[in-house]
Amino acid sequence: MRAHIITFGCQMNEYDSHLVASELVSLGWELVESVEEADFVLVNTCAVRGKPVEKVRSLLGQLRKEKERRGLLIGLMGCLAQLDEGQQMARKFGVDVLLGPGALTSLPEALKGNERFWDLTFKEDLLDYIPPPPKGALSAHVTIIRGCNHHCTYCIVPTTRGPEVSRHPDLILKEIEQLKAAGVVEITLLGQNVNSYGKDQPGFPSFAELLRLVGRMGIPRVRFLTSHPVNFTDDIIQAIAETPAITRYIHLPVQSGSDRVLRRMAREYRRAHYLERIRRIREVLPDAVLSTDIIVGFPGETEEDFQETLSLYDEVGYDQAYMFIYSPRPGTPAYKHFQDLPREVKVERLQRLIEKQKEWSYRRNLEWVGKTVEVLVRGVAKEEGYVQGHDRGNHPVLVPAHQAPTPGLYQVVVKQATPHLLFGEVVGAREPAPIPLPVA
Ligand code: 5AD
Ligand code: SF4
Repeated sequence: MRAHIITFGCQMNEYDSHLVASELVSLGWELVESVEEADFVLVNTCAVRGKPVEKVRSLLGQLRKEKERRGLLIGLMGCLAQLDEGQQMARKFGVDVLLGPGALTSLPEALKGNERFWDLTFKEDLLDYIPPPPKGALSAHVTIIRGCNHHCTYCIVPTTRGPEVSRHPDLILKEIEQLKAAGVVEITLLGQNVNSYGKDQPGFPSFAELLRLVGRMGIPRVRFLTSHPVNFTDDIIQAIAETPAITRYIHLPVQSGSDRVLRRMAREYRRAHYLERIRRIREVLPDAVLSTDIIVGFPGETEEDFQETLSLYDEVGYDQAYMFIYSPRPGTPAYKHFQDLPREVKVERLQRLIEKQKEWSYRRNLEWVGKTVEVLVRGVAKEEGYVQGHDRGNHPVLVPAHQAPTPGLYQVVVKQATPHLLFGEVVGAREPAPIPLPVA
């Protein structure tokens, strides 16, 4: 019996796909790389914007045809599976197994019978599940908290993933210990809001305390995603400052620079608070690399509001930004109550924001020229003759392939920068792993 998993969306989904893949292997399934080879195709979905939803719809159309031709088992999991929208699709396209983001541990039961199996419950045993280390990986994710207690008016995640639930610190540390023993040199602590870690469970460490604990485990690099500006506390900033293993890459989604828009988004902080947090980060961590998420064209966003986003961008001078056109999601308050802006307005604003991002990323990248950075080389780059990795600030870095013949950590002097990439020369290696280079 052969299974193929297709993953859309964020790092949480990548982690969940790995978790489910490990479950399948334990159940005796072989994992294959294509739909054609598979008896079971499991689609891990994202519902945060319209585009990934439409991609799943067309994929399910293809899978239904394949099923009619040769009898295929189709599975749907992840955020879209939790929503009416996804369940309607599942009915239409003949999905056999449907698992919400909280029901992944029901997979063995789902595959036992021949009946259609749907589970949308949030199961506690998911939090206790430790997936085995991914084979040959140098970098791995570890979920520390699931769900979200915020209610940003544009966002479907609180509906699909439920309220915040932190994993027990002992399990997190055990999972990281196993990853370390398997040769992993970089871990990313994951959560929709990592800095809420521990708040839901009396006796659990705070996120800052967890960072200190994980930072002492001997993993060279520890990263975390995603933080919420409302409770990105001084203690967290301090924990990063005093723990060398923790990278100084901070992803702090701002969404908008306008207080009017932030209020309609129910973002719980205002521009001044956000900028004060950034000032504090820069004061304590002068070498911090900052990135953000921005939504353009939220309902009611005026040109003046958008100008405030542009001016906030200049005040922060982000190294990187993930920029999105507002996408109305059924089931969210913004969808229900606010009128969407014309698409041309949104697209035009996005273009201007991308120009701003390119200018700043180039400027920030140039600041690294001449400096030595530690690069985790992971595979062959698209650019011929180069291998690619990322440094502790999450910049993609390219080095000549012959200088880094195996994946691993290398000391690299940055020689050149573009708005998207750094190019460097290897000046030293740190325990490269003795395995051949995969394609990046
Ligand atoms: N439209 C556009 N972008 C969205 N995001 C979340 N919901 C929406 C939406 N409805 C973006 C936010 C969030 C990121 C993961 O996705 O910027 O931080
Ligand atoms: Fe969505 Fe806001 Fe929660 Fe992030 S904090 S997952 S944007 S509701």
